[in-house]
Amino acid sequence: MSTAAKSSEKLKEDPEGLVSNCGMVKATAQNGFEALENNFYGNSFRDYYAETDRQKSVEEFYRQQHINQTYDFVKKKREEYGKLDKAVMSIWECCELLNKVVDESDPDLDEPQIQHLLQTAEAIRKDYPNEDWLHLTALIHDLGKVLILPEFGALPQWAVVGDTFPLGCAFDEANVHNKYFVENPDSKNPAYATKNGIYKEGCGLDNVMISWGHDDYMYLVAKENGTTLPHPGLFIIRYHSFYPLHRHGAYAHLMNEQDKEGLEWLHVFNKYDLYSKSKVQVDVEAVKPYYLSLINKYFPEKLRW
Ligand SMILES: [Fe+2]
Ligand SMILES: [Fe+2]
Repeated sequence: MSTAAKSSEKLKEDPEGLVSNCGMVKATAQNGFEALENNFYGNSFRDYYAETDRQKSVEEFYRQQHINQTYDFVKKKREEYGKLDKAVMSIWECCELLNKVVDESDPDLDEPQIQHLLQTAEAIRKDYPNEDWLHLTALIHDLGKVLILPEFGALPQWAVVGDTFPLGCAFDEANVHNKYFVENPDSKNPAYATKNGIYKEGCGLDNVMISWGHDDYMYLVAKENGTTLPHPGLFIIRYHSFYPLHRHGAYAHLMNEQDKEGLEWLHVFNKYDLYSKSKVQVDVEAVKPYYLSLINKYFPEKLRW
């Protein structure tokens, strides 16, 4: 059986962590949070250049993503999914639904998605007990991955997961496997060829078209359903896969002041998103009442998706 087929059998998490281009990572314990040195495959987290079958399928994933994500593609997807006409369900129902999803872009883990959500949320809760909005943000940050399921349009993996990047301006070298952008049609558009492209410096990330995937979709769902999550929570949801920015500082010239505040919280969140991936299972039924109370505080009972 091919690696891709094998990976399709199991549930995967996406590549939120460290290291895009250098292939080495240091795991540091934060506030008593125990960080892992290696992933399930014995390699450093986000080591996209390790010589494994898994790495080859991840590289193929990025080749497709870099070729197919264009400015026009993202614009169309935002319009289409902005209608929120795919489903009506609660946040918790979506958490359970997510267990059906497989993520081919992650070099790190084989775990049910709900375990990743709860492991991330519980690790943050331990270190930041008073920031309940951050616990809930962690729980829901990957729910947009339902885009892979048939009832949400069965989008290909490259339109759902993987690191994200801006369209409408030059592709930065900080993007993982950036060599494949040569084949992206936007590379031939002179209007997109400069550092700022069609944007103005400091315009704010809300005004920037970023590759379509689970981040932007979940942001859209949360915002349009009137969540009361504070801005940094929404920022984390929307940009947690934007590794070129939050890991490498690329595209920082497009941020405004509010983005800078969001980015500080995203740095906090990211450590947990990556390093809480482990084999220690969270007892779902035991923690469910706590998370239901947070959902009830920040979201309506049913949401349009
Ligand atoms: Fe994610
Ligand atoms: Fe995640």
